[in-house]
Amino acid sequence: MIFQSSDESQRRPSGWWKPAVVYQIYPRSFADSNGDGTGDIPGITSKLDYLTELGVDVVWLSPVYSSPMDDNGYDISDYHNVDPLFGTLGDLDDLIAGLHQRGIKLVMDLVVNHTSDEHPWFQESRDPNSPKRDWYWWRPPRPGAEPGTPGAEPTNMAAAFGGPAWDYDERSGEYYLHIFSRKQPDLNWENREVRRGIYDMMRWWVDRGVDGFRMDVINLISKPEKLEDGVPEPGNQYVPIFRFVGRGPRLHEFLREMNREVGLDARNLLTVGEMPGVTIQMARAITDPANAELNMVFQFEHVDLDRMAEGHKWDLKPLELPALKKNLSDWQVGLGDVGWNSLYFDNHDQPRAVSRFGDDGPQHRVNSAKTLGTVLHMHKGTPYVYQGEELGMTNTYFSAIEQYQDIESVNYHADALSLGMEADVVMRSLSAKSRDNARTPMHWDDSSHAGFSEGIPWLPVNANYLAINARAAMGDPDSVFHHFRKLIELRHEYRVIVEGRFQLLLPDSEQIWAFTRSLDNSILVVIANCSSAPTVVPAEALPDLGRAQLLLATHAATGTLQLQPWESRIYLLR
Ligand code: NOJ
Repeated sequence: MIFQSSDESQRRPSGWWKPAVVYQIYPRSFADSNGDGTGDIPGITSKLDYLTELGVDVVWLSPVYSSPMDDNGYDISDYHNVDPLFGTLGDLDDLIAGLHQRGIKLVMDLVVNHTSDEHPWFQESRDPNSPKRDWYWWRPPRPGAEPGTPGAEPTNMAAAFGGPAWDYDERSGEYYLHIFSRKQPDLNWENREVRRGIYDMMRWWVDRGVDGFRMDVINLISKPEKLEDGVPEPGNQYVPIFRFVGRGPRLHEFLREMNREVGLDARNLLTVGEMPGVTIQMARAITDPANAELNMVFQFEHVDLDRMAEGHKWDLKPLELPALKKNLSDWQVGLGDVGWNSLYFDNHDQPRAVSRFGDDGPQHRVNSAKTLGTVLHMHKGTPYVYQGEELGMTNTYFSAIEQYQDIESVNYHADALSLGMEADVVMRSLSAKSRDNARTPMHWDDSSHAGFSEGIPWLPVNANYLAINARAAMGDPDSVFHHFRKLIELRHEYRVIVEGRFQLLLPDSEQIWAFTRSLDNSILVVIANCSSAPTVVPAEALPDLGRAQLLLATHAATGTLQLQPWESRIYLLR
């Protein structure tokens, strides 16, 4: 049950998502009901008891709309329908009803920065005389250049998935803009009709019973006033796209308009905007309820700490714990009592947290997965659990490029080799960072294909499913699953976890992640050893724990401040 504190309900009509925990489902990889090797909606519906047992409040469903699947559904060709790969609209209605019966809400993915190039809007827009021409970003070639040749693009922006961000359309002699793949043309939000069309569609889904939207790269909808060349780096004539986009001048205006016209606040919907490049200052304004934009945003700073530079995701850099702690702490303090944070380590675009921030070897996998869960869930904000995170699922460590399916990974591999990079360096980057790490099928049990499908899964199942799977975890009281279940329970039970003020302790420690959360007379104290070596927490850094109640711990209590590798504890003082 989600409680609502009385002072909060006086301040705002609702805020039901504050004590809530969201579970993200990537439908392709969750559960396959018909043996075609791809997960589907009836598969999800068959697993509702599992979600109930875990105790989550909300499901965020990655896209299930009609799509040519160039980017696994983030390229939508019909916003009002479900792709046959995933089922039917009727199946989705059944899923919504089943979730609602269990008190779980459903948040849809909303992908409206771009459509598929197979969407009828874009098909029409290809005709220069069509009224929909202005619905997308069409531009003439660079003056004097031969259209369709490298360098003739209107500007030198690189697309996020490789190659230039402009694609030539011979029929009209112009280029269209695509921040992602060439099959994901960007919608022109400057055009009022585009915005109207999208708000209509959103209302249609709300009327159908959905409880909110996770908005894909929503800060990209407002483009810079001028689309111009950037300064290239040596060896690449195109400049990473995120140097240009993300902070467009009309973003706040568009979000407010959307909120008003769809009735996002008025209808008590959960709204979370994915925003690459968002700053604390921007997020504070966006999530300030007085501005009526969004409830929360997904920021990227903490998942960008292990890369060498902006636009260089694949140039690996070792993660430093003080930097990660500082970043989350900055966001806690920065949004403070005004806005609201979303909390995530894992999603369908990120490698598995236990492999990236923890230790996924046999000795420490369980405790490091639990401890990462502890620190994340005890921050202030709404936690997001990505399917399999609650089992401590790990990266895949594919050894051959043929095993990868993700467009970003496959394109990167081809581009990097063509630039002369060594194949094993490229494969190492993929194994650390590829999005397919998170997309291998969910492990349900130790039967063939991890109980995910009776057919051949679209992406190979991680070989470690025999040991790491839901059935085993549910039967083991010490599993990562039960630890996450208890973290969720604690959030529902203690106001201090939802609302308490955050303070980071021992900011420079390279092993210990410790902080307090304070509300009225309650202080929550979290201490975690985020390393594979033992450590001791200096007592003087903590409030006196003499009378503290131990709410949850990874290891049996010892009464000292010595922590085993990946040991964490949550204390309550009042
Ligand atoms: C962000 C989504 O999370 C990602 O999976 C997708 O590829 C891009 N946006 C483009 O839609």
